[in-house]
Amino acid sequence: MNRKLTLGLAVALMAMGMQSCSHARPENRSGHDLWFYDITAPVTAVNKELLNKYDSQLGDEGFRIKRNDKGESVIYANTDAGLMYGTYHLIRLGMCGETSKLEKEIVEVPAFKYRVLNHWDNPNLTVERGYAGKSLWKWEELPGTIRPEYEEYARANASIGINGTVLNNVNADARMLSREYLEKVKVLADIFRPYNIKVYLSLNFAAPKHLANLKTSDPLDKDVIKWWNDKVAEIYSIIPDFGGFLVKANSEGQSGPQDYGRTHADGANMIADALKPYGGIVMWRAFVYAPESPDRAKQAVEEFKPLDGQFRDNVIIQIKNGPVDFQPREPFSPLFGQLEHTNIMAEMQITQEYLGHSNHMVYLHPMWKECLDSDTYQKGEGSTVAAETLGKVHGNTSISAIAGVTNIGDDINWCGHQLAQANWYAFGRMAWNPDLSSEQIIDEWLKQTFTTDKKFVEPVAKMMLASREACVKYEMPMGLHHTFKGPDHYGPGPWDRSSRPDWEPAYYHKAAADGVGFDRTSKTGTDAVSQYHEPLKSLYDNVETCPENLILWFHHLPWDYKMKDGHTLWEKLCYTFEEGIKEARGFIRTWESVEKFVDQERYDQVHEKLIRQAKDAIWWRDATMLYFQQYSKMEIPSDCTPPQHTLDELRRFRLGISNYENPAIEKLPDYSLE
Ligand code: GCU
Repeated sequence: MNRKLTLGLAVALMAMGMQSCSHARPENRSGHDLWFYDITAPVTAVNKELLNKYDSQLGDEGFRIKRNDKGESVIYANTDAGLMYGTYHLIRLGMCGETSKLEKEIVEVPAFKYRVLNHWDNPNLTVERGYAGKSLWKWEELPGTIRPEYEEYARANASIGINGTVLNNVNADARMLSREYLEKVKVLADIFRPYNIKVYLSLNFAAPKHLANLKTSDPLDKDVIKWWNDKVAEIYSIIPDFGGFLVKANSEGQSGPQDYGRTHADGANMIADALKPYGGIVMWRAFVYAPESPDRAKQAVEEFKPLDGQFRDNVIIQIKNGPVDFQPREPFSPLFGQLEHTNIMAEMQITQEYLGHSNHMVYLHPMWKECLDSDTYQKGEGSTVAAETLGKVHGNTSISAIAGVTNIGDDINWCGHQLAQANWYAFGRMAWNPDLSSEQIIDEWLKQTFTTDKKFVEPVAKMMLASREACVKYEMPMGLHHTFKGPDHYGPGPWDRSSRPDWEPAYYHKAAADGVGFDRTSKTGTDAVSQYHEPLKSLYDNVETCPENLILWFHHLPWDYKMKDGHTLWEKLCYTFEEGIKEARGFIRTWESVEKFVDQERYDQVHEKLIRQAKDAIWWRDATMLYFQQYSKMEIPSDCTPPQHTLDELRRFRLGISNYENPAIEKLPDYSLE
């Protein structure tokens, strides 16, 4: 730990007394990032209790804030990191106008030990599914040129408790492990260290072949094992506190142990053994699926359950929140409830790959919380995804972690949409405390980013809290999933074709004359329901009890199926889209009502994007329902927004963007909100 920082920090804060807060305003970035607080803000006093004993309640990162006899607030922590987090907490209370909370003792300890961002950034500066410009990491300039953004990034992360960052894409370029790149990575690691942030790298499993010309990358081959041991030793000689590796293996064309007839456990353990002497970890992803499978949603359980208990204790299996791929709504991945002797963690997506990129305002915390709060029932009631990943269900988890695929790029506002920083902020706060409500987090973020004025915070919080559900309604309601036009994943394309069946929307929606939806039931379907424990298995299996917001995920139903409110399935789909459209239109009015609280620049940027979001909502409805209409032969009810384009027009539309960019508004189909 960096002693100098602590002493400097403590002294600076003591000296500040109750002075008003001063924020970091990075010169070359947006000046609006107020939660990028500087370490100089309203604090009465700070001290470090250099006790001779370790306060076991606080651990290595927690803190206690207590009033002393003079009425000053004092932060106590075992470590410099704890002190830093305590300081940021004080600043946050100050900025949110909540210093009255200091009257009582505060004890805060992070829930997850590893709170990690995953960057999908490539050495050529593109960012896979990145909608905020290019990569923040200017590899070609490093190690010589150090940009101020690197430290601003570290400070922002530290303020919300993030303590690890994977710098490069899971579709990893083997070069990242070359000496040349490790020297560049070292510079970032040195900048992040005082902020208690460790660096990790995604590795390419075939690196021994690519970098050292070995004939194989077989994890049981002794030359391969030696190569990894030597490579890891080299990394730690350059970056002594290197965090470890993230691995995407045998997935979407990435190399992996199965290329050599070995298992995920063989591959993960080989890397884990190399890291073990240095305290590093392996985050091994469970995002695996093969084109020939009749149900992609089942594959992670099929591949990983048989390996339960075979992984080393410094391996943690990183599982996406849902069983398919970051859709606006999925049930939680059943793998969370299937392993008993293996460390597991959740991977959330902060970047909005499937939720309107950085053109749409979608506050994602409610979606992540829905997953963490879901009960797997693995050991009876209370076996929530949060409890499972915190090691509370089996009690044998040696490491707990959570990952978020970032939405950060080199755009002036960091995240591409002024309101998308809320998702970066929310991920950090959730990783620190998964019990915080969506309401509390958005309230904090708005107050620190705009103003504490209730007349602004209340309506905007309400709008943001409604945004995820609105997005589900206008993109893929009632359990529909993956109805995107690929490969950019921005707009609708239920008709779209691809080189692989499991990348085609029809694989998921199965729209036909007899109805729509994916039959995953036990009797007539793929039996994916059986990967859930009771009572969920029966709940999902039975069309009468399956929640309507997931009904087409688990059931294939006739177009005239009677829903609970008496509408047919067809009508209900139309009306749910309609609600989404109405809500998206309402967001524009809400934003217009708070104009006077926001500077012109941010106001205009958000306003323009909200208008596009509402237009996209109609586009989604038009494309999906006009396509389905070919099979249902039913009419869109006359009290719904009339379609503005024909199916043919929409099918002919080409967006023509790569997987590394956000579409420009002018490129999108013409829609009117009149
Ligand atoms: C999605 C995404 C890819 C990404 C993959 C992953 O499929 O579209 O770009 O590489 O997830 O999570 O590995």
